[in-house]
Amino acid sequence: MVESAEANAAIWKSDATVADWVAGADARERGRVRARELLAELLPFAEDERFTFVDLGAGTGAASRAVLAAYPSSSAILADYSPQMREEGQRSLADYAGRYRYVELDLATGRWPEELAGGLQAVITSLCVHHLPDARKAALFAEILARLEPGAWFFDYDPVAPDDPSVGEAWQRVQDRRDPEAASKRSHRSPEEQARWENHVRHISPLGPQLGYLRAAGFEAVDVYWKELDHVILGGRRPR
Ligand SMILES: C[S@@+](CC[C@H](N)C(=O)[O-])C[C@H]1O[C@@H](n2cnc3c(N)ncnc32)[C@H](O)[C@@H]1O
Repeated sequence: MVESAEANAAIWKSDATVADWVAGADARERGRVRARELLAELLPFAEDERFTFVDLGAGTGAASRAVLAAYPSSSAILADYSPQMREEGQRSLADYAGRYRYVELDLATGRWPEELAGGLQAVITSLCVHHLPDARKAALFAEILARLEPGAWFFDYDPVAPDDPSVGEAWQRVQDRRDPEAASKRSHRSPEEQARWENHVRHISPLGPQLGYLRAAGFEAVDVYWKELDHVILGGRRPR
């Protein structure tokens, strides 16, 4: 577990990897527009309401930007442990200057900054929880619940693993239709791309257990609010 956490940190705290990730971000985001919008729509606020949300593993702020755009009076606290991603985020969030700030947080540790100790109005996370081993996913969900205000919501947009290899093959078949170069890219990865891929898939886990972690943490209204192939939006509410 320590080894995998170190491998993950080496990826996300590498100048070269982050530069490469940022270079491909616009193209990847084109396929995520609906999921980003839906995550914002799921939050229970009026369009003009003032509230602050926390984005865990926020990276350069793709999920935060969708929420900041949908709710013009909202503010974001973006938590991430990568200085490179936080720095890139200052560029991609320039339109929202004054409405966001970054805090440093390593989600693998369970040690949260004092300012996120409680009373959170909403917590979101995207494309990050799959980097944590299952025991840590379960513990993180409990830590989030404990920090939310009663009645506040948590949503997680992330990939999941198939329960059955045939399901994984069907997902891949569609992905390959959509990107005719996907199969060739899979079989011609550079060593860096291979390391990134292995880091990406290392802790991806099936949907069912993750719903179980949310319920075990004490969330209510737990559901798969959206799903397309291997990507889902999971969430729940802290009981009032
Ligand atoms: C694939 S990127 C997703 C970024 C952003 N949430 C998005 O949707 O585009 C994964 C992010 O999770 C962050 N991350 C990975 N492991 C983390 C950890 N243990 N603690 C905090 N951040 C972590 C990385 O630094 C990176 O910014």
